[in-house]
Amino acid sequence: MSMRRAIVAAATAVVVVSLLLTTACASSPSGGTAPPVNGIGPVTFAVGSDDAGFFATLIQPWNEAHPNQRVTLILLPEAENGQLAQLSANLQAGSSLYDVIAMDVIWTAEFAAAGWIIPLESSLFPLGDFLRPAVDTAVYNGRLWAVPYYSNAEVLYYRKDILARAHTLPPVTWAQLARQAETVAPRYGLQGYAGQLAPYEGLTVNFADAIQSAGGSILSPAGTVTVDSPQARQGLDFLIDGLRRGWIAKSSLTDEEESSWGEFESGRLLFLNNWPFIYSQASQPGPVNKVYGKVGVVPLPGLDGPGSSSLGGANLAVSAFSKHQATAIAFIQYLTSLPAEREMLTDSGFPPVWTSLYSDPAMDRLFPYLPVVKRAILAAQPRPSIVGYDQASLAISSAVYQALTGRKSAREALGELQRQLSQIIRDG
Ligand code: GLC
Repeated sequence: MSMRRAIVAAATAVVVVSLLLTTACASSPSGGTAPPVNGIGPVTFAVGSDDAGFFATLIQPWNEAHPNQRVTLILLPEAENGQLAQLSANLQAGSSLYDVIAMDVIWTAEFAAAGWIIPLESSLFPLGDFLRPAVDTAVYNGRLWAVPYYSNAEVLYYRKDILARAHTLPPVTWAQLARQAETVAPRYGLQGYAGQLAPYEGLTVNFADAIQSAGGSILSPAGTVTVDSPQARQGLDFLIDGLRRGWIAKSSLTDEEESSWGEFESGRLLFLNNWPFIYSQASQPGPVNKVYGKVGVVPLPGLDGPGSSSLGGANLAVSAFSKHQATAIAFIQYLTSLPAEREMLTDSGFPPVWTSLYSDPAMDRLFPYLPVVKRAILAAQPRPSIVGYDQASLAISSAVYQALTGRKSAREALGELQRQLSQIIRDG
C-alpha cells in the first residue's frame, strides 16, 4: 500500500469511530461533555497562505477517498494579523463559509469565548502522543477547542561556513551573539543579525523571546501583568541597543518571517532568528538559495545562557456555524494522524506534534535539526492565553515598535504597556 493510500485508509477508519463516539457525547478533558455534532458532507478548510503548500498535498488523497466529503482549501492572508481579521469578520457575522479553521495557537481563548468554534471530544484524538505544550495551547477553561497540528519555537540560524572560517562556535549568550554579529559579520561583508521587528504579531513574538531570555515575562502564571520589570527592560534594551549599534540589521524593522528569510537566503546575514520551517527551505538547492549547505541551527541565545522562544504553532478547529461538523472532525483526525504528520514534516519541515517523530531515525536523518527544535519547543513559553489577546498583542507590538524606533524610551514604553495590558485584562 502506498504511503498516501495508507494514510487515507487509516483516516477512513477513524471517521467511523469519530462519528460513533462524537454522537455518544463522551467526556472532555475537564469531565465536561462535548455537544453532539451535525452532518456529513463537503467542507471548506481555511488556512493562511503561508501554510497552504503541504495542506494541498494532503487534501488530494482525502478527496479521492471521500467524494461526498470533499475538502476545499480557502486561502487566508500570509501574516497572522490579516488571517485573524478575515476570520473574525466572517465568524462575527455567523457565516458558515469556513468549516475547518487552521488557528494560530494564540487564538484559542478568543474564538472559544466568542462561541465561534465548538468544544471537541478529547478521546477522539491521540493527545497523549502529542507534545504537551502544543496540547495546552488548544485547551481553554479546561476544555479542548482544537487539535494541535504543528508546533513551533524560534531558533537561531547561523552561517556555518563563516563561523568556521572565523574559528568561532555559534553563540550561546547575548554577549557572544552581539560580539560575533558586530565583529565577524563585517569581516565577511555580511550584516549581523535579523529578526521580525515590523509592527505585527511577529514583533510580539520577538519581544517575548527577548524578555523571557532575560528571565522576564509579560504575565505572571497567576495572570498579573509583569511587563514593567528590570528583566523586561533588559530584553527590550538588547534589541534597542543592537539596532543602535547596527549589528541588528535596520531592515528588521520592516521584516516579517518570509522577508527576513529572503535576506538570509541571499547570503547577506550572519544570523537569523526564525521558525523551523526555514531549515527545510535552506536545505533546497536553487539559484536563489545562496546559503545551501551552509546553515547551522542552535537554540536562541539568552542573557546568561540559552534563551527561550515564544511557543508558536497551529491548531485545527471546527466552526460553530459549520453544517458538516462530523466531516470536519474526521478530516482533522486524518490531518493529525501519525502518517499525515510524517508527510507534513517530510514536505515542509514544520515541527510535528507527534512526539515519536522527533526520535524517528529516518526523520532525524532528513532533518538533523529536530533535537534542537524539540528542546526549543519544550523550553518555549506560551503567549498570554487571554480573551483579549489580539488587543493585548497590538498594544505590545506598537509600544515595542515605538521604543525600537526611538519615539519612546524603553522605560516609558514598558510603563505604558503595563497600564494598557492591565486595563485590557480588567475589561476582558
Ligand atoms: C508563526 C507561529 C505563530 C505566530 C506567528 C507570528 O506562524 O506559528 O504562532 O503567531 O508565526 O508571526
